[in-house]
Amino acid sequence: MATTTLKGQPFDRPILDSMLRRRMFYTPSFEIYGGTAGLYDYGPPGCALQANIVDLWRKHFVLEEDMLEVDCTSLTPAEILKTSGHVDKFADWMCKDPKNGEIIRADHFVEEVLEARLKGDKEARGVTVEEKEADPKKKKKKGKATEAVKLEDAVVKEYESILAQIDNYNGEELGHLIKKWELKNPTTGVEPLPPVAFNLMFQTTIGPSSNAPGYLRPETAQGQFLNFAKLLEFNQQQMPFASASIGKSFRNEISPRAGLLRVREFLMAEIEHYVDPEGGKKHSRFHEVQDVELVLLNRDTQLAGQTKVEKVAIGKAVADGIVDNETLGYFLARIHLFLNKIGVDQSKIRFRQHMANEMAHYAADCWDAELQTSYGWIECVGCADRSAYDLTVHAKKTGAPLMVRQKLETPISITEWEVELNKKLFGPQFKKDGKAVEAAIIALSQEQRESLAPTLSQDGKITVEVAGVGNGKVELSKDLLVIEQRTRVENIREYTPNVIEPSFGIGRILYCLFEHNYWTRASDGGDEARCVLSFPPTVAPTKVLLVPLSGHESFKPLLKYMSLKLRSLGVSSRVDDSSASIGKRYSRNDELGTPLGITIDFQSVNDKTYTLRDRDSTKQVRADEETILAAIKSLVEGAKVWADIEKELPAFESQEADLAVR
Ligand code: GLY
Repeated sequence: MATTTLKGQPFDRPILDSMLRRRMFYTPSFEIYGGTAGLYDYGPPGCALQANIVDLWRKHFVLEEDMLEVDCTSLTPAEILKTSGHVDKFADWMCKDPKNGEIIRADHFVEEVLEARLKGDKEARGVTVEEKEADPKKKKKKGKATEAVKLEDAVVKEYESILAQIDNYNGEELGHLIKKWELKNPTTGVEPLPPVAFNLMFQTTIGPSSNAPGYLRPETAQGQFLNFAKLLEFNQQQMPFASASIGKSFRNEISPRAGLLRVREFLMAEIEHYVDPEGGKKHSRFHEVQDVELVLLNRDTQLAGQTKVEKVAIGKAVADGIVDNETLGYFLARIHLFLNKIGVDQSKIRFRQHMANEMAHYAADCWDAELQTSYGWIECVGCADRSAYDLTVHAKKTGAPLMVRQKLETPISITEWEVELNKKLFGPQFKKDGKAVEAAIIALSQEQRESLAPTLSQDGKITVEVAGVGNGKVELSKDLLVIEQRTRVENIREYTPNVIEPSFGIGRILYCLFEHNYWTRASDGGDEARCVLSFPPTVAPTKVLLVPLSGHESFKPLLKYMSLKLRSLGVSSRVDDSSASIGKRYSRNDELGTPLGITIDFQSVNDKTYTLRDRDSTKQVRADEETILAAIKSLVEGAKVWADIEKELPAFESQEADLAVR
């Protein structure tokens, strides 16, 4: 997918990538040992950029909505992730090449081979094909180059339809596609073996004993769910509310390529918004965002083999049932506004709904905010409706009351099948398994209770499934429990909240910001073009560059003074007092995305006025210290943009005249 830069120039990824590494935005981890795929370190500008994005995220979500932030451990006992379903289901499909042993991610492999064939078809038909950039999913292999082979029209249609729903296939279906279309690994020319599931979690042991298996968490969400009851208490039992967490998660990606977009250790920022499932999941602030327009690619379009998007106000999308409910819609709009705020290109955002097989095991519905890059559309934020899945499974397993007790205005009469345990006999009979057996009985549905009640009275005993106890089945005699239908009047309604979860991959967003804000400026001297990263001042790693016109002694006290002044305002700055020309010093900092520059010249020494330069236009204004500092503060806080400053302050043409003086 060829893309263009911010200024419409052809996008050249190797140039951007080498600049990002040269400027130490990021670097492969353990590089002097040869590096490890999928692991990266951030250098100083990368760290500052990430910290600024996280800071804005906290303000936009946590502060704006009074969310309850928690910081939970990454090390997680296996039992928790078994209960959450991750041990059994958190997997991707992988294939092995029987000839060279290469391990390939099955869906990426099918996608890559079909796309190569479609490209070959276009070439054979004489259609100009843009050079496809290596997608994380579609990286070119060293094997044979694409062959210009014409395909039948029906085959082209079928390939396009498969690609539109590639994320919807399970392992068996991917294996079937490989066989049906005789898909061969370009490196070896042979068909890979059938796909097998590969669990993405890193396993470890917690402490010296191998009896305490654990995993590095694959998401921050579980820690939040396990603290639900305490957070509800902290929130004085008020619903709805949200918890939030920012922290590292870990996934053992099968064959990570594509730099920062597919990594094995990454920073997530996740929100778990707890909402009453009754009443249509309304949101009290939905009206504030209802006019926000989003570009949507819904599930039905993809299942019809198409990728056509529609731009629609979120209010209408919810009213028309394209987006299921107001709470989900509210967060999609808030995600969009956040991405906009930090400098994501508006024309490169779409929200894509997951297809049924694609959804994580816990999700009832899911929309991803995808950002367009030279690697294709990349999922950067997931927004899932996890229903009551997680709280229910953890409550069932532990017996903990992960639910809400709501006082009812009008008491209601309820007729239900109830179970009453004879605790005196129950404890001594089941000893250490008592808790698990009790939890399994309490978890029996109304239908199960209804059908077990006559068995208990006729046979004098029933059998109940209890995972992890004996052979998984436990027999209970009628002296241990009573099951009968009873009517009671209730003043309290108990329910398990549903969860809407916006989940942000900070590293992926950060990479997209690089691509979306990058462009090149023709060099004044005519040598090679200079890179610019036009980050908004609010997220830019360093806000101000301080440059003395020359090494003249008289500039030094002012340089020190302005550094201190900026520091006292909480504005990050960097001094470049090297002997390079002013232009060169500015262009070095354009590469770092520094939005503003102050030049200290002879006039500054005389009258304490300073010039302020805008990175993107290279325009300058001049004013006294107080005015310049106020302008900087308003720009880095996002209260004003450069166009406001240009209107307010007198323009300054150039320091050219001064340049001769040293
Ligand atoms: N918690 C969302 C995810 O794991 O992607």
